[in-house]
Amino acid sequence: MKYSSSSSSSSSSSGGKSPLTLQRTTPKIVVLLTLTFILLTILSLYFPFLWQHKGAPSSSKNSSPLSSPSSSDIVEKTGSATTSSSSTCDIFMGEWVPNPRGPYYTNKTCWAIHEHQNCMKYGRPDNEFMKWRWKPDGCELPIFNPAQFLEIVRGKSMAFVGDSVARNQMQSMICLISRIEYPIDVSYTKDERFKRWRYTTYNFTLASFWTPHLVKSAETDSNGPTHTGLFSLYLDETDENWTSQIEEFDYLIVSAGHWFFRPLVFHEYRNVVGCHYCLLPNVTDMTLFYGYRKALRTAFGAINGLKNYKGITYLRTYAPSHFENGMWNQGGNCARTRPFRSNETALEGANLEAYMIQVEEFRRAEAEGRRKGLKYRLLDTTQAMLLRPDGHPSRYGHWPHENVTLYNDCVHWCLPGPIDAWSDFLLEMLKMEGRRSRQEKLIYSDRRLRAR
Ligand SMILES: *[C@@H]1O[C@H](CO)[C@@H](O)[C@H](O)[C@H]1NC(C)=O
Ligand SMILES: *[C@@H]1O[C@H](CO)[C@@H](O)[C@H](O)[C@H]1NC(C)=O
Ligand SMILES: *[C@@H]1O[C@H](CO)[C@@H](O)[C@H](O)[C@H]1NC(C)=O
Ligand SMILES: *[C@@H]1O[C@H](CO)[C@@H](O)[C@H](O)[C@H]1NC(C)=O
Ligand SMILES: *[C@@H]1O[C@H](CO)[C@@H](O)[C@H](O)[C@H]1NC(C)=O
Ligand SMILES: *[C@@H]1O[C@H](CO)[C@@H](O)[C@H](O)[C@H]1NC(C)=O
Repeated sequence: MKYSSSSSSSSSSSGGKSPLTLQRTTPKIVVLLTLTFILLTILSLYFPFLWQHKGAPSSSKNSSPLSSPSSSDIVEKTGSATTSSSSTCDIFMGEWVPNPRGPYYTNKTCWAIHEHQNCMKYGRPDNEFMKWRWKPDGCELPIFNPAQFLEIVRGKSMAFVGDSVARNQMQSMICLISRIEYPIDVSYTKDERFKRWRYTTYNFTLASFWTPHLVKSAETDSNGPTHTGLFSLYLDETDENWTSQIEEFDYLIVSAGHWFFRPLVFHEYRNVVGCHYCLLPNVTDMTLFYGYRKALRTAFGAINGLKNYKGITYLRTYAPSHFENGMWNQGGNCARTRPFRSNETALEGANLEAYMIQVEEFRRAEAEGRRKGLKYRLLDTTQAMLLRPDGHPSRYGHWPHENVTLYNDCVHWCLPGPIDAWSDFLLEMLKMEGRRSRQEKLIYSDRRLRAR
């Protein structure tokens, strides 16, 4: 990942410091910038987090394969694609290259696409954005192979923990797998924000847990300074909606970010310690990054503290939004139809800050987890997604006449679309897991041989 280390030096190293040391009078310009950023990105998130699910049609089991490539075709094409250099190749650094074979499903073959990400239904005129694949520098990343994936996860369970972008990822995965099998709904609640799916042939369970801030939170004012709600975050308290449910899972995919840009009040030790753009008297503005770091730490702490959890924890890193030419409510939009090349943009500002905090807290959790034999992996999607301003619904997440808060959605990702590559990454990482343990076994038996 490209970043200058200096630009992260301002990050709130909240570590063991008391909140007092972080208090400072925020210069007006910072407040202004923060406000702009809030309006730009996150306010706009007001509407899209409504969980909607199109009921699975009864025909859902007839997974009609797409005409373009058959799964056996993909097995052949991608089976040997990983080169021997893959152990030294960073699969998360690279470029998007044309892929005329994409996409691998459509809104006709997959019913799992959320309304607001069904861009073709709402008249998106271009389809080039579906025809790219991620090419890491120095190696190949195979296109997701659903048959291979299902074999690897047979008898296992995977949970997506986060906000609507996490759901976006899960639905992308369901669509990619749909050429082989559709899951049945085995949810334990009618609440659409907590779904459970089961692939019966493979005894594989997928689940999603709604936790936009990862920690315990509550909306204390539905209006707030930016009319997008004011949330109280209990930074040292876990959100039991997911922490009480995940112990049995084999894979956890944790993500969060966009909701931290809204006005927040931070609580620790059951007291208000500060806030992010809450404009309340006598409450210090500590920036969103203070809360973001603490929330990640508490979430990872909860995972590391589970008695029976033995799974692999993936942190899916921040996926930047792409509003251009104005704020979300002033005509700001993402109208590009091509990816950036890596030399045309760079991770900066709040995106960089959020990313750095994620990586730092991930490393910390990984070190702590290692002592308990828990595995942590970084699903480092930030750079690839930074390069995809063309992959968002923009104004094609609803009908033109519909009165929605976020008219141009530059946060979520069209399906099919670039978020499908997250499954490419995930499968490659699962395969590396196998190679890793084979290597460990080899080293072990080698040692035993030599010891004889
Ligand atoms: C799928 O997209 C097409 C346009 O490509 C649209 O006409 C159709 O209504 C959409 N179907 C569904 C089920 O969303
Ligand atoms: C399905 O997988 C679960 C673990 O996720 C296991 O406990 C159970 O025995 C499996 N069931 C069958 C029928 O294999
Ligand atoms: C847990 O879920 C319930 C039901 O959806 C919700 O009311 C509550 O706010 C959630 N708790 C947290 C800490 O977010
Ligand atoms: C803010 O703090 C000052 C000084 O401690 C106090 O006099 C004032 O009443 C407080 N205001 C509010 C609204 O709590
Ligand atoms: C980026 O790299 C490409 C290919 O290496 C080159 O053709 C292009 O001119 C570069 N663009 C910029 C803005 O440097
Ligand atoms: C859209 O909805 C908002 C809030 O519900 C309302 O204030 C506004 O008048 C509506 N606009 C139109 C064109 O219907």
